[in-house]
Amino acid sequence: MLVLDGKIASAAVKASLLQQTQALKAAGKRTPHLAAILVGNNGASETYVASKVKNCEETGFGSSLIRFGDDVTESELLAKIGELNADSNVDGILVQLPLPKHIDDEKIIEAIHPDKDVDGFHPMNIGRMVQGFDTFIPATPYGVLLMLEHFKIETKGKHAVVVGRSKIVGRPMSILLSSGHPQGDAHVTLCHRFTPKEELIKLTQQADILVVAVGIPEFITGDMIKPGAVIIDVGITRVEDATAKKGFRIKGDVNYEQAITKASAVTPVPGGVGLMTIAGLLMNTMKAYEGKFYHN
Ligand code: GUN
Repeated sequence: MLVLDGKIASAAVKASLLQQTQALKAAGKRTPHLAAILVGNNGASETYVASKVKNCEETGFGSSLIRFGDDVTESELLAKIGELNADSNVDGILVQLPLPKHIDDEKIIEAIHPDKDVDGFHPMNIGRMVQGFDTFIPATPYGVLLMLEHFKIETKGKHAVVVGRSKIVGRPMSILLSSGHPQGDAHVTLCHRFTPKEELIKLTQQADILVVAVGIPEFITGDMIKPGAVIIDVGITRVEDATAKKGFRIKGDVNYEQAITKASAVTPVPGGVGLMTIAGLLMNTMKAYEGKFYHN
């Protein structure tokens, strides 16, 4: 059983990016810069954004963290995004989700210039991804592809079952795994909340590669896994636990103890896909800096 260790795979991506930023610095050039907008004080979002900023530092990227209170207006956010769009020293912009209910996520995402949309959420970039054009791939599915690449997991001709159809993980993941590239060419089944449970179990039991992104702790149990399958657990849910130092534990969508008795490879939680999401984001930020696909 192979542990698909996100620390190892993300360290390899970051080492290569660090080499590039060191070369830029040696040549007297500026390095890529990521601007992250954080609204309110959602504990999980705070942790994710702090980690994104820390990883920028470790890789020689510049970063700015721009904070707003829960009561920020849509027009204040749009004004800040306009400012960052116009700032030639900012290569990538991300707005951490979720946003408060009074803010229209779609409007905010569409305001980010597609050239700086390092989360890959802008409809233009999603459209490019669907058509197989070079673009920013949403950071989590991109991280999964980088993980599959690092551990040389074959996807071609395999049956990949994706559970969860979210805009930022499940849906793009299903498209990418079925597309024609080295970590694609799988035949893909996408299951979601309206897939009857008996049907879902039949499908997961046929999955050579099972990607789970539903946000329900330990949703996938050992009996739902095909012997020898590769299991990619995207879930990161905080579950209250009075015995834990922080008062909670992080749980994935897969029962890890059961999965390791059936699967050939499993991502741990924490320490799996979460770290790869950041690797994907950093790769996208370098790509934005290089202006590779819109500017030449
Ligand atoms: N919230 C949960 N995942 C993400 C992500 O990948 N990007 C942003 N901006 N917000 C998120």
